[in-house]
Amino acid sequence: MSSLIERALAGQPVPRPPVWFMRQAGRYMKEYRELRAKVSFLKLCGDADLACQVTLQPVERFRVDAAIVFSDILPVLEAIGREIRFDKGHGPRVLEPVRSASDAASLRRPDVADALPVVPETIRRFRSARPQTPILGFAGAPFTLLCYLVQGSGSRNWEHVKALLWSEPTTADHILSLLADVVGDYLQSQIDAGAVAVQIFDTWAGILSPEDWRRWSLPYVQRALGRCSGAPRIYYTKDSAPYLDHLTQTGADAISIDWRVDIAQARQVFGPTIPVQGNLDPVALFAPPDEIRRRVRRIIQAAGPRGHVFNLGHGVLPTTPIEGVEAMIDEVHQTRWPET
Ligand code: CP3
Repeated sequence: MSSLIERALAGQPVPRPPVWFMRQAGRYMKEYRELRAKVSFLKLCGDADLACQVTLQPVERFRVDAAIVFSDILPVLEAIGREIRFDKGHGPRVLEPVRSASDAASLRRPDVADALPVVPETIRRFRSARPQTPILGFAGAPFTLLCYLVQGSGSRNWEHVKALLWSEPTTADHILSLLADVVGDYLQSQIDAGAVAVQIFDTWAGILSPEDWRRWSLPYVQRALGRCSGAPRIYYTKDSAPYLDHLTQTGADAISIDWRVDIAQARQVFGPTIPVQGNLDPVALFAPPDEIRRRVRRIIQAAGPRGHVFNLGHGVLPTTPIEGVEAMIDEVHQTRWPET
C-alpha cells in the first residue's frame, strides 16, 4: 500500500489528508537552532549527513506525513557559476549578480550529477534511515531563481530583474532556458534517488502581471517539468490568485496555493483531476489552538476528500510557537473521511 501522500497526489481515496509544511525543518525548532549554532546554513546544505539529520528533525518531532529534503533553492545558482552567501539577518546574496549579456556569457551549463550531488545523496540516506516515511524533493522555478541571480538579493520591487526582462529579453530568455534545463535535470536526479514527489517553488512569480507571468515564468516551468517524470510534480506559487486560470498549463500534476485563494474555488478552477496542496496562512499558527483547529477543519472540508495535501500557504515563520504547529498537525491527523 503506498503512503497517504502518494495516494492523495494520485487522487485516490484516503482516510484523511496527509500533512507536511514548507520550511518544516528550520529555525522555529530548538533542535535546528542548536545545530545551526555550531554549523553555518551553507554547510548544512552542503553535507548530506547533516542535511539528512535536519530533514529528520520535524519527522521525529511531529510525525508529519512526509519529509522534504533539507536544502535551499539557491545552490542551483552556484552550480551555474555564481557564489552565494547567507549573512545573518540579511537573507541570501549573490556576490556577482547577472545584469547584462556579457555577465550571462560567464554562466555555465553544468552536469547536474557532478555539480549538485548533495540533495540526491541526502534523499538516499534519508530513505535508508527512515524507509517508511516518504520524502519530497524540490527546486526553485526558473523565474524565481532568475530573481535572485539578477537582483543579487531579496527585494521589494525587483527592479533589476524587470529591467533585464524588458530591456534585454534575449539575455533573459537565455538565462531562463539554462535554469529550466538545470532545474529539470536536478528534479529528475531527486526522483531517481527516491523522492515520491517534487515541488517547484515559484515564490516570486506573483511580482509579475498575468501577461508577464505567461511570458516569463510559464514557458520555463513547462520546460523544466518537461524534463522530469516518474513522480508527481507540484507547482507552488505565492500570490496564486491572479494566475489561477492558467496554473494547470504549467503541466504540473498538482498545484500548491497560498492562503489568499479559497481552496474550494481553486479546486473548481483546476478541475477534479488536479490535486491541490495548501493552504493555511502561516501566521494562523500564532492564533489560539482552537482557532487553528477551526481553520484547519474549514480548509479540509472545503478541499474535499480526494486529492488534497494539507500544507501552509507559505513557509512556517521562525518565531512560530511549537504549540500552534502541534495543533495544526493533530487536527489534520484526527480527520476521518467516511469510506467511499
Ligand atoms: O521546506 C523545507 O523544510 C526544506 C528546506 C527549504 C529551505 N529553503 C530552508 C531554508 C526550502 C524548500 C527552501 C526554499 C526556498 N529558499 C525558497 C522557496 C520557498 C519560499 O520559502 O518561498 C526561497 C525563496 C529560498 C531563498 C531563501 N533561503 C531565503 C529568502 C532565505 C532567507 C530568509 C529566511 O527565511 O531566513 C533562505 C534561508 C533558509 N532556507 C533558511 C532555511 C531553514 C534559514 C537559514 C538559517 O538557518 O539561517
